[in-house]
Amino acid sequence: MKKVQVISEFSEYVSAAELPVEEKELLTKAEAAAKTAYAPYSKFKVGAAVLLDNGEIVCGSNQENASYPLGLCAERVALFAASAQHPGIRITHIAVTSSSKNPTAPCGACRQVMAEYESVHKNEMQILLKGAAGKIIAADGVKNLLPLMFSGKDLNG
Ligand code: THU
Repeated sequence: MKKVQVISEFSEYVSAAELPVEEKELLTKAEAAAKTAYAPYSKFKVGAAVLLDNGEIVCGSNQENASYPLGLCAERVALFAASAQHPGIRITHIAVTSSSKNPTAPCGACRQVMAEYESVHKNEMQILLKGAAGKIIAADGVKNLLPLMFSGKDLNG
């Protein structure tokens, strides 16, 4: 038996003012997207903005349903829309915001969906997380949020 440690690394910014302009703008788009959330049950509005290698930005917000499990997180709404509208184009960044006190932490399912696109596009994305306050977390690649991630390669044994 041996113990294995996995190290996660991310940067913390005191406010969006410290970010490069492109990333600051992406967070602003995610904040605008949060306003479009359909979240009558949780009242927790989340916005996501995906930046693609071709310069396009695709936004999403969480969409809930009276049948609770059918709802979808903002991140997956944005990632699936980006892939449907721009198939095969690499995702370079995803920004996620909400009214949460801390930087918005994507759920495990959304992390796994990020992993899928990183894997198929052979390109790690930068993940920017912001809450209501100024502090921002930036992670280079989903590996920093999802150790031991599952991928299509695991299906082949
Ligand atoms: N939610 C997101 O959209 N993204 C996250 O990162 C966390 C949770 C949504 C799902 C649901 O509509 C609401 O927030 C409460 O969980």
